[in-house]
Amino acid sequence: MKRVAILISGGGSNMVALAQSMIGDHPARPVVVVSNDPDAGGLAKAEQLGIPREVVDHREFHKDRNAFEGVLHQTLEHHAPDIICLAGFMRILTGAFTSRYEGRMLNIHPSLLPKYKGLHTHARALENGDADHGCTVHEVTAALDDGPILGQARMAVKAGDTPDTLAARLLPLEHALYPAVLRRYARGDRTPVKLP
Ligand code: GAR
Repeated sequence: MKRVAILISGGGSNMVALAQSMIGDHPARPVVVVSNDPDAGGLAKAEQLGIPREVVDHREFHKDRNAFEGVLHQTLEHHAPDIICLAGFMRILTGAFTSRYEGRMLNIHPSLLPKYKGLHTHARALENGDADHGCTVHEVTAALDDGPILGQARMAVKAGDTPDTLAARLLPLEHALYPAVLRRYARGDRTPVKLP
């Protein structure tokens, strides 16, 4: 059984989707949810799901990324994860950290990568007049929102869409895509998932 750590910063809806998928014959189980924000709504959801929770508050490290990542690493290692899933984790990780988990760390990003790395992906898709928008699960490497693509879900942009309507319509696709990718990945299968 593969041990999965899930890193969050906010509401944690992707964390819930991942955790709820890891049942029955699934090759992995959630072992810890780690948040960099003590107020993240996802922490209460992790508690309801009975998953151990940890907080490593980045603000306590006063912009010392190495110190933050050192404690994050120690905290994770305490739970001996095989796979790390970033699920709405909004801190940029250094290459020193990502290299420790190379080939074992996944991220979900709300755009059809390689388009729109970074923030404000929904607004940028609208500004560019894109006909399609979507989300991507990829392996995490040192470069932000880069790394091998493991799956994408696509949807049409509609007339009258705003960044908020796009985000709301995309979230259920994220909740379908990320568990589908993790299930394959935990078996060692990196064939990209395409949704729909
Ligand atoms: C999701 O839309 C995820 O794709 C995005 O944050 C949201 C988290 O929601 N991630 C990023 O923007 C990463 N750069 P959640 O906390 O409800 O899963």
